[in-house]
Amino acid sequence: MGDKDSKITAPLIYAVCIAAIGSLQFGYNTGVINAPEKIIRKFFNKTLSERSGSAVSQELLTSLWSLSVAIFSVGGMIGSFSVSLFVNRFGRRNSMLLVNVLAFTGGLLMAFSKAAKAVEMLIIGRFVIGTFCGLCTGFVPMYISEVSPTSVRGAFGTLNQLGIVVGILVAQIFGLEAIMGTEGLWPMLLGFTVLPAIVQCIGLLFCPESPRFLLINKMEEEKAEAVLQKLRGDRDVSQDIQEMKEESAKMSQEKKATVPELFRSPNYRQAIIIAIMLQLSQQLSGINAVSYFPDLSSGPPLPLARVALAAGVERLFLVERAGRRTLHLIGLAGMAVCAAIMTVALALKDIVDWIRYISIVATFGFVALFEIGPGPIPWFIVAELFSQGPRPAAMAVAGCSNWTSNFLVGMLFPYAEKLCGSYVFLIFLVFLVIFFVFTFFKVPETKGRTFEDISRGFEGRGNAASSPQKTPMVELNNKEIGEV
Ligand code: GLC
Repeated sequence: MGDKDSKITAPLIYAVCIAAIGSLQFGYNTGVINAPEKIIRKFFNKTLSERSGSAVSQELLTSLWSLSVAIFSVGGMIGSFSVSLFVNRFGRRNSMLLVNVLAFTGGLLMAFSKAAKAVEMLIIGRFVIGTFCGLCTGFVPMYISEVSPTSVRGAFGTLNQLGIVVGILVAQIFGLEAIMGTEGLWPMLLGFTVLPAIVQCIGLLFCPESPRFLLINKMEEEKAEAVLQKLRGDRDVSQDIQEMKEESAKMSQEKKATVPELFRSPNYRQAIIIAIMLQLSQQLSGINAVSYFPDLSSGPPLPLARVALAAGVERLFLVERAGRRTLHLIGLAGMAVCAAIMTVALALKDIVDWIRYISIVATFGFVALFEIGPGPIPWFIVAELFSQGPRPAAMAVAGCSNWTSNFLVGMLFPYAEKLCGSYVFLIFLVFLVIFFVFTFFKVPETKGRTFEDISRGFEGRGNAASSPQKTPMVELNNKEIGEV
């Protein structure tokens, strides 16, 4: 792997950053709904009571509020599962461009819901923007992985998570009462998502299509070569072209991978199970419950988002050195320790006064460790575990698992909290331990390896499963850059 492979050029950084606006949108729309809860409930109350001429029950208001929050994830599930319908037909870049129609539609529906006195517009808008964000969670990591050189693919892949965290932070700042978290401005707060959509649409016009899509899917070698020369800043891109051609030759021998195929074929089964488990490890770690758990974050979750951001910057430099698997393992183990400390601190909070400081430190640790591994890695490793053919279907399945588990944690956590009280984080602790063990034994290292090499590592594993000693995971885990 020569120096030229790791050359980071301006067109490459530009393309990755424009794509990551999609991640920003996901983060923004995830975080934006928390701050203005009271004001939006008031709007529901006023609008519905005016319409019906009678008072609205608290139960109805709570149900409508929960629906407005949850329907975003339902849209996300549908959007993420539809990724494969777009990317092979329209290409990676054009798919990102096209689905911005949903960002405009969703944003405008929410922005004008107050003026139109229509609660329905807000709820439908949340669904539409959720669908858009679901699509982004597939498109962005896929595009970034496909345009990046192997040696920095992980570092750029983590920019997806950085975009998400920045989006959450911006939403929380804009949601402050001093900015847009007011009765007059909340429609603008929700509709703000239209602005990044405009920037992304204009920006995408100057982004290249994924060279892998051009060569492997469209067989347009000259175009792929021209794009690669621009992205790599080098006229000699023969090594990349050669590697893609090998993948293309292999792909032409395979049947096109559909979702059921991923589970049926022994070549993909192991990889898709790993992809799903990693997504579950991200959501069942309890990150979204912890971030918004008032007893832990003591006040608005703004400081938590800042911790997440700082850890994200740190990770950018770590992921290509330490590797994905190691960072994921460190993250899960550290989060488990923090969850244990948080549990003890919560249980003792009425007896020992100073313990609340410990709980704050443990919560910061929990978030920082999440951002080191379980936050970014599941999103982009899926793109790495699969070659060009099965990648879109795999992204769809993995993305949908993420959104579904996110939705379930959001729905079930309040009940678990009522049931378990201070001990509620023990549930996440158990999950963290299970996913640590799974990652340790099953997840291969993908750092510095080509897509072709990684997917070859899984081939024949269906047969090998019965005699694991023959192909120990360590062999796969230890593959390093020099061996590629
Ligand atoms: C990840 C998760 C998302 C979470 C965020 C927090 O991107 O997918 O659910 O809110 O990290 O940083």
